[in-house]
Amino acid sequence: MKTSINLIINGSKIEVSVLPNETLLDVLRNKLDIKSVKAACWQGDCGLCTVLLNRIPVKSCLILAIEAKNSAITTVEGLSDGENLSNLQKAFIKNGAVQCGFCTPAFLLMSYYLISKRKIFSRSEIEHSLNGIICRCTGYKQIVDSILDVQNLGH
Ligand code: FES
Ligand code: FES
Repeated sequence: MKTSINLIINGSKIEVSVLPNETLLDVLRNKLDIKSVKAACWQGDCGLCTVLLNRIPVKSCLILAIEAKNSAITTVEGLSDGENLSNLQKAFIKNGAVQCGFCTPAFLLMSYYLISKRKIFSRSEIEHSLNGIICRCTGYKQIVDSILDVQNLGH
């Protein structure tokens, strides 16, 4: 039986009807058409479906949509101010951290979360924090370089 829930997505309240077994990933991609939320494994291994749930990174394929009711969800669209990219997004571009781009929304969201902690992380701490997300193109160095560049500046 379907249930109507509210999600606050990038600051906008959205009502959506969900089945008890529908994941947050399914709802974001298939019902709300937010295709920036990627998926490869649907079982918690690739990290590509990462979004922020109440500011904490989660793998949206492992969360039931109904568990997220009344929560604030941030997708990559929530990181920029319209067409004005954040410092983090600019650093990804400058460092070549965006190649095929399939992993980029997940890495940007995880990077945003790290920077929002307002701590200075070492390279190895950043590498450790990113290890739940797979990138097949960059070798990760450019992504870590981008976070190191920005952590003194803010998002
Ligand atoms: S789709 Fe791979 S972790 Fe969610
Ligand atoms: S840029 Fe291609 S998978 Fe990361």
